[in-house]
Amino acid sequence: MRIAVVGSGYVGLVAGACFAELGHDVIVVDNDEQKLAALQAGQVPIHENFLPELLNRHRGKRLTFSGDLQPAVKESSAIFIAVGTPPTEQGEADLSYVESVARSISAAINGYKVVVEKSTVPVYTSEWVRRVILRNAAPPDLFDVASNPEFLREGNAVTDFLYPDRIVVGANNERCAAVLREIYAPLTDGRYYRRPEAIPQPGQVPIPPKLIVTSTQSAELIKHASNAFLAMKISFINAVASVCEAVGADVKQVCQGIGSDSRIGARFFNPGIGYGGSCFPKDLKAFRAVARECGYEFRLLDEVMRINEEQRERFLRKVRSALWTLRGKRLAVLGLAFKGGTDDIRESPAIFLVETLLQEGCRIAAYDPAAQERAREVLGSSVDFAADAYEAARGADALLILTEWDEFANLDLKRMYSQLKYPVVIDGRNLYDGESMAEFGFTYYSVGRSAVIPEHTRDAAAPARTLKNS
Ligand code: UDX
Ligand code: UDX
Repeated sequence: MRIAVVGSGYVGLVAGACFAELGHDVIVVDNDEQKLAALQAGQVPIHENFLPELLNRHRGKRLTFSGDLQPAVKESSAIFIAVGTPPTEQGEADLSYVESVARSISAAINGYKVVVEKSTVPVYTSEWVRRVILRNAAPPDLFDVASNPEFLREGNAVTDFLYPDRIVVGANNERCAAVLREIYAPLTDGRYYRRPEAIPQPGQVPIPPKLIVTSTQSAELIKHASNAFLAMKISFINAVASVCEAVGADVKQVCQGIGSDSRIGARFFNPGIGYGGSCFPKDLKAFRAVARECGYEFRLLDEVMRINEEQRERFLRKVRSALWTLRGKRLAVLGLAFKGGTDDIRESPAIFLVETLLQEGCRIAAYDPAAQERAREVLGSSVDFAADAYEAARGADALLILTEWDEFANLDLKRMYSQLKYPVVIDGRNLYDGESMAEFGFTYYSVGRSAVIPEHTRDAAAPARTLKNS
């Protein structure tokens, strides 16, 4: 099928490349000339596993890039809208880009088209899109608007798209649903997975994935509610971690005990410095706002957001109690991306902590395997960017682990010990365990577990009683 995807961000570019991988002819349209030129020149503007392979495989063949929306719409049967839906001041989703794309589409409807929401949008957006297209003189029987929310995670985007737990299609009639069924058929009938060149299966995933057809409202809500529930799970375990710290329990053991209950599940139960990224923070605010508009005060979401904010403050308090005064202290920071596996720093807890510690007079040497260039755009020369984790640690008063990169969980601890001025590690992602850190003589603070302070430094390292925590 001929498909147009509007927006070549994390969602649009990955969706476009994967639709081409499924055998469709795809035009990805973006109004950012720089991004377009980079894509047409063969570059890969985002850090995603398997994306370079897919772009090399299909670019210029089943996958093309254009800055011109209307010709792309005219020659396509389905148009996926994957433009940004950033938050407004009030936290609502800013849908102005979605509206402007809908307006442009209406003038190019030269036969039956299905317009598909791929960006995360509040409930009723599909009705607004239909209204805008009708208002701009498109014949009502020549198009339908569907919702097809994307559940991909950055860092795993390609495999999440090709090996999804489920595909959700919001369509208010069978004619429209049939088009989406045909688009995803290579996945739902299993034929894609039988191809020798298929992208490898990432562990335990349901094959073939089920396709769930709902109303457009339900599909739009499924996306917001899914992200809200995942964020709630993270805030819940972070809250439990705070209780563990207060009573001397071990959150890792608690996670195992809770997560082994099949009704709860162990995934997305990693305590840390809180969630970030381009989705959870904005989608929770947008869901909260849309619920209020519909007359429901979804206060639970406020608490999810409050706990997330508090996690950052708790980590800062841990740094202060480990180092006493911060002014002039040299800190080594491992991780700037909002999570491991991506170069994305949007709403990154690590960036927030680095900026706060700089304001408190710390000097920071930082290292991130993929996000340094994007972080440099934000932090400039206020931070020394290191070539690797060991260079960052050289002569530092303490080492802070802020992003859950696998690389940081497999450091040469003996070498790290020799690099640091003081062997103090404050781990915001629980990448290590207290026993092994004690063996190497580190003073080790983590989330939801008691601090590990080697015998010989007990007096020196014991968290000094400061006015704040006395
Ligand atoms: C997008 C949505 O922002 C988010 O709500 C949803 O959860 C996932 O899809 P992402 O792909 O990360 O997220 O967005 P972004 O990286 O902002 O990319 C959007 C792209 O759309 C940009 O390349 C932008 O240039 C392009 N765009 C935006 C258009 O082509 N036309 C427009 O009118 C507006
Ligand atoms: C999320 C959703 O997972 C995805 O389905 C949706 O389409 C987009 O939003 P993403 O933002 O890419 O994906 O990252 P995710 O892996 O969900 O992590 C989000 C944040 O939560 C990161 O900051 C991560 O570090 C944090 N996190 C995740 C935890 O703190 N603990 C966990 O157990 C899992």
